[in-house]
Amino acid sequence: MPIQLPTPVYKPAFNITRASHVVHRVADLAASRAFYVELLGLVVSDEDRETLWLRGLEEGCHHSLVLKLGEPGCERVGLRVLTEEDLDLAQRHFERTGFPTSWVDVPHQARTLHTRDPAGTPLEFCATMETRPRLFHQVESHRGACVHRLDHVQVVTPKVDASLVFYNEMGFRLSEYVVSDDAIFMVFLQRKGNPHDIVFAEGPGPRLHHVAFTVPDTQSLMLTADLFVRAGKAAQVEFGPARHFSPGLARFLYLLDPDGHRVELFPTHYQTIDIEDEPLRWQAPDFQIGGWQTPPPGWFKDASAFTRS
Ligand SMILES: [Fe+2]
Repeated sequence: MPIQLPTPVYKPAFNITRASHVVHRVADLAASRAFYVELLGLVVSDEDRETLWLRGLEEGCHHSLVLKLGEPGCERVGLRVLTEEDLDLAQRHFERTGFPTSWVDVPHQARTLHTRDPAGTPLEFCATMETRPRLFHQVESHRGACVHRLDHVQVVTPKVDASLVFYNEMGFRLSEYVVSDDAIFMVFLQRKGNPHDIVFAEGPGPRLHHVAFTVPDTQSLMLTADLFVRAGKAAQVEFGPARHFSPGLARFLYLLDPDGHRVELFPTHYQTIDIEDEPLRWQAPDFQIGGWQTPPPGWFKDASAFTRS
């Protein structure tokens, strides 16, 4: 049976600009800080006894990763819209299409809208947040992997088809997809002009598979793996450094944080913006996730459950 792809929506009802941030719950803030700040090189924008707000060296907005003390899980995926008006248009769009919304107060963010996608992935949208200096040129601030910015998230979901329709309606463009047995089981969706802001892979969920950050170069992947070994944390190096011979074609390193939340580091992606950029189709046997490496079983099986609230 031929695969039917949705028609791209070039002028959506509101303007989402990118994947912006992830909110995780963690069991031990000191252990998380050692992982994300000392080894990955994220910068602390703010902290209190229960929360760490982190950003990458390139990032001028307050946070791309929020770590809250609590039962480990992923609380929410954050997306940015361009203007406050886009937020109101988003709220009307979700209500009209049957997705309940709520307005919430979130520290360091302007007005914030919550909803859930068809599989139940908790989403939040905001147009602005507080700003902080970009530190990529301040080498005295650099540590570990020198993470630059959040690039994308990947979600495991039993509803890949419904997710494709839902995000396509919001103007996400399909950059690449993977087909098996004449069904789509992975979709790579983007707003910012590189291959993905959010990825959906078929499986029990919704669960957050990973959050991906960019690092300066390929050598950073080797350096980071070495740092984890030297710190006695080799067990947290899950997969890589290697290259995806699969969507994105990125070189990568997957790490597991102290609570099992998965982080991908990678140096760069290609650009995909123009209207003639058609979605790329992948199908076994040409689809090799790890190129010259085979992913460990846990990479397929394990992901962070979304919390209830
Ligand atoms: Fe990824």
